[in-house]
Amino acid sequence: MITISKLNKAYFEAEKKTKVFNNFSYVFEGSRVYSVVGPSGSGKTTLLNLLCGLDKFENGSIKVNDSELKNLDETSLDQLRKKYFGFGFQFHYLLEGLTVKENCLAANFGKEIKALDSLFEELGISAKSDNYPRNLSGGEKQRAAIARAVCSKPPILLLDEPTGNLDQENSLQIQEFLLEHAKQNKSLLIFATHDEAFANKADYTLRITSEA
Ligand SMILES: Nc1ncnc2c1ncn2[C@@H]1O[C@H](COP(=O)(O)OP(=O)(O)O)[C@@H](O)[C@H]1O
Ligand SMILES: [Mg+2]
Repeated sequence: MITISKLNKAYFEAEKKTKVFNNFSYVFEGSRVYSVVGPSGSGKTTLLNLLCGLDKFENGSIKVNDSELKNLDETSLDQLRKKYFGFGFQFHYLLEGLTVKENCLAANFGKEIKALDSLFEELGISAKSDNYPRNLSGGEKQRAAIARAVCSKPPILLLDEPTGNLDQENSLQIQEFLLEHAKQNKSLLIFATHDEAFANKADYTLRITSEA
């Protein structure tokens, strides 16, 4: 479970201040699926980064299973991320020097990973698992990044536009995969999307506007 209370977050660049969250409160319960929607620039990516301590906030509180993120140093944040989180970033960030399989293993170093080959199968990238990212299409990279995020079955999954680079058919396949994966593993799944139909498949939809 993640509890956000009275969160304030702004970016400061040169003389300019961009307020992203203003007194924002929300609760993400465990074992539920949440979609996050809102116009471009409303703060979806910022929110996902804040939830796992990859970005900092000025005021308020974010608690992940009773750990207040504000009180954790970088080492403790690292440990917390390892213990609870899997991420898929908007711009996939696969390591170019590693194959798909190696990317999955390296990102989850020290964690138990079972049935990686059947996961590749389910995601339709079995034939590509020994390829380097430069030899993958955009959609295949996105599937590889999803495999990397889910392969250790983390209790909390944060996915930023997971179907953003996919055509309709592939997008539907990945949506089904993610919803089923979350259900099977009783994970808390939070995904940002522009796709209203996908957003509506979540248990709850968080709509953010500029300055939520
Ligand atoms: N590192 C940053 N420095 C300055 N401003 C940022 C930074 N990251 C995001 N922003 C600004 O914060 C707002 C929210 O961005 P973002 O979370 O990426 O929105 P979304 O994912 O909904 O498109 C935007 O106005 C964006 O320009
Ligand atoms: Mg974004």
